[in-house]
Amino acid sequence: MSAPRINPSILAADFVNMESELARIAGADFVHVDVMDNHFVPNLTFGPQMVTRVQETSPVPLDVHLMIDDPDRWAPAYAELGAASVTFHLEAAASPIALARRLRSIGARAGVAVKPGTPVENLFDALDEFDQILVMTVEPGFGGQSFMPETMPKLRALADEAKRRGSSVWLQVDGGIGESTIAQAAEAGADTFVAGSAVFGADDPDRAIQSLRSTAAR
Ligand code: DX5
Ligand code: ZN
Repeated sequence: MSAPRINPSILAADFVNMESELARIAGADFVHVDVMDNHFVPNLTFGPQMVTRVQETSPVPLDVHLMIDDPDRWAPAYAELGAASVTFHLEAAASPIALARRLRSIGARAGVAVKPGTPVENLFDALDEFDQILVMTVEPGFGGQSFMPETMPKLRALADEAKRRGSSVWLQVDGGIGESTIAQAAEAGADTFVAGSAVFGADDPDRAIQSLRSTAAR
């Protein structure tokens, strides 16, 4: 396996000092950018204008997580502004495969996310249509929640299926990931880890990233 990827979520950063916050995580693999619309989830963050400035400012590529209704309409703009990866929710998309193809055609990695209660079997035949599958390990909407271990069987099923099919899809987890939970997610098959509070809540975020990466690799 390649080295585990650690993607800090700027939801836990200081929004009015975003440039210096981004500089504190220069050792990350991607910056995880949570876009919320107050409809798909009961919280509101920011849209393409802010994400464009993050894209222009960040030393590392962007991993955009869209927690929004109607991603079929809105997601391509995030690929067009230069995000390396754009992930939309399966529950919100009308035509997930068509949308993933569109994102790839613009040049982004295409990701699909599932909430804790959403089954993943329907994705098995479409693994190659996506570059990343995000298994939410909390209900989307807020940082700082507790990791839900009951999502691990689903992750394991995806990992087994990906292996069986020889797929190179990345398996991402998001929510409650920290030193005490990252190992079980890695063991269940995740290779890409979002961490908000565990990184930005640390005195030295870059050290926290390195430490999470080595815990996940063990
Ligand atoms: C939650 C977001 C997460 C959030 C994770 O809906 O998708 O990316 O920032 O925060 P922590 O790591 O604090 O659980
Ligand atoms: Zn997220």
